[in-house]
Amino acid sequence: MAKVIFKDEEISVEVEAGTSLQDANDKADASVPFGCTQGECGTCLIEVLSGMEHLSALTEDEEMTMSKEEKAANYRLACQCKINGGEVEIQPADEIF
Ligand code: FES
Repeated sequence: MAKVIFKDEEISVEVEAGTSLQDANDKADASVPFGCTQGECGTCLIEVLSGMEHLSALTEDEEMTMSKEEKAANYRLACQCKINGGEVEIQPADEIF
């Protein structure tokens, strides 16, 4: 099992390891915004406050869609990454580079 904490909404959800953050968002009824769900629009940009090591590696789409600054600032695209276990704390990105 794994746990995703949506810090700004003060809610959390337990999910199976390997669950996408988009599915975790849906299960928690959290409000990370989504658009294309294909890693192309950047709408689901989130800041990973802790637990980055528990997320799947950057996808090719994330590499192409996110700026260098966003990657350096521990941002991810919630539609692209999966939690592999442990605990991750996220919030929608409040700054876009
Ligand atoms: S919803 Fe478009 S990049 Fe994630």
